[in-house]
Amino acid sequence: MNFGIIDIELYFPKVYVSQSELEDYDNVSKGKYTIGLLQTNMSFPLENEDTVTLALNAFDRLVTKSNLDLNTVGRLEVGTESSVDKSKSIKTHLMKFFEKSGNNDVLGVDNINACYGATAALLNTINWFHSPFYDGGYAIVVSTDIAIYEKGPARPTGGCGAIAMLIGPDAPIVFEKDHGYLSSYFSHDWDFYKPKMGSSYPIVDGRLSIGCYLEAIDNCYDTFKKKYYLSHKNAKKENGTGNGTNEKQEQEQEQKQKQKQNEKENRKFDLSKVDHVLFHSPFNKMVVKSWARLTYLEWYDSNLNLEGIQEELRKKTKSQTRTDRSVENSFRKVSNQSYKEKIEKSNYICAQCGNLYTGALYGALISLIIDQKEKITGKNILTFSYGSGIASSMFLLNVRKCPTKLIKSCSRIPERLENRTKISPEIYSKILKNRENDKFKQLPYNPKWQNKYMWENSWYLKQIDEKCRSVYEKS
Ligand code: ACO
Repeated sequence: MNFGIIDIELYFPKVYVSQSELEDYDNVSKGKYTIGLLQTNMSFPLENEDTVTLALNAFDRLVTKSNLDLNTVGRLEVGTESSVDKSKSIKTHLMKFFEKSGNNDVLGVDNINACYGATAALLNTINWFHSPFYDGGYAIVVSTDIAIYEKGPARPTGGCGAIAMLIGPDAPIVFEKDHGYLSSYFSHDWDFYKPKMGSSYPIVDGRLSIGCYLEAIDNCYDTFKKKYYLSHKNAKKENGTGNGTNEKQEQEQEQKQKQKQNEKENRKFDLSKVDHVLFHSPFNKMVVKSWARLTYLEWYDSNLNLEGIQEELRKKTKSQTRTDRSVENSFRKVSNQSYKEKIEKSNYICAQCGNLYTGALYGALISLIIDQKEKITGKNILTFSYGSGIASSMFLLNVRKCPTKLIKSCSRIPERLENRTKISPEIYSKILKNRENDKFKQLPYNPKWQNKYMWENSWYLKQIDEKCRSVYEKS
């Protein structure tokens, strides 16, 4: 039935701060954020925006533009790591849109995990399509997050935005095969967590988080290759074509042997089998590091000779090289050209909006579609989703036909990014400082509302009433 991504909508606030200006304001060495982290601008929310307003806006725009009949939607899931309520799902706010249709038979709640929630929502949704409970129709997956950090080195790796994806049958972008092409790595660590319920800021160990991210790549890629091989081997057995049968004709036999050898090779996964690789992107330098790491893994697991790479290095285990800067730098050099060809174009949204947390990987997909347009048809895309803690998955997407709707939706984004309003780092810092205040202290709370800093026809937080209930309205 080719279940997968049919359409997509990215929503980001109208305001942003420039990373170059932030470098000056933070008094760090010039180029640290723009060249060092490869970030250009950063989205952030105003006082009257939260992850519910971001999700409402992304959902509303997705459904309105495609004139989608909400009676045809049987599942709606949200992925986030910045909930506004410890109990009530953001998804339930989105159910307001279904009131007119009378459809309340809509499965799904919020999936909460650092940077991984939307992938969990998406994988749940794909499983639902293949489950006995699927009775036709579509699903929608929404990622919504606000990435803000307290003052310090992590702050320029913030960002915010929401992505709504329409998922259904006969989709142009599908999850390659129903099984076998998904690997995961879950483990326990303390690289990034949010134990303070009243604060939006995480506790983050930046260096450790990079190590955990790379540990997840190593393990996901290893398992992915094993599963890929097994799935092809099994498929071959099922087809019953595994044994040569015609013993009479020697030539035929020889050809079959060759074919067998080729098939054996084809069963093995390697990076030449994919046209693009998308990574979870907290900041774009992390993507450079990730591609260098995959290049190292490819080299380590094969007999490849790479110019400038010492064979001696094979004596070290993968975990010994994970945080070794000289190994990283060597593989960044050898992967520089392939990075430009396969990866770089997926960095656009992250460079402009910053870390979308659970939506970051899907922001990379949008960036790729903006760049490739029709050329993306037929391409294989390897994806890596990482969430701190550790939760991570790797899977293969295939663009089986021209994603016309997706191309149209994504093509509008650059103009909207251009039409944003730049805010000075001073005001940005004040706005973040105000967010630290306990808004439940004095209720009702009426956040400030300034038209010129909001998109027209957008949802915003009007009030938090005496019972702590948020009231959302559309401008
Ligand atoms: N010009 C050019 N490059 C510069 C300059 C300069 N003036 N100054 C520094 N740099 C480079 C550094 O060399 C480094 O690049 P490299 O890694 O290629 O060597 C880069 O800029 C960053 O500089 P660092 O000194 O490493 O930065 P710092 O340690 O202060 O902070 C960090 C970086 C740890 C990523 C921090 O921003 C952070 O904690 N972020 C949040 C955690 C995070 O996003 N982790 C990623 C995985 S987990 C997740 O997805 C949330």
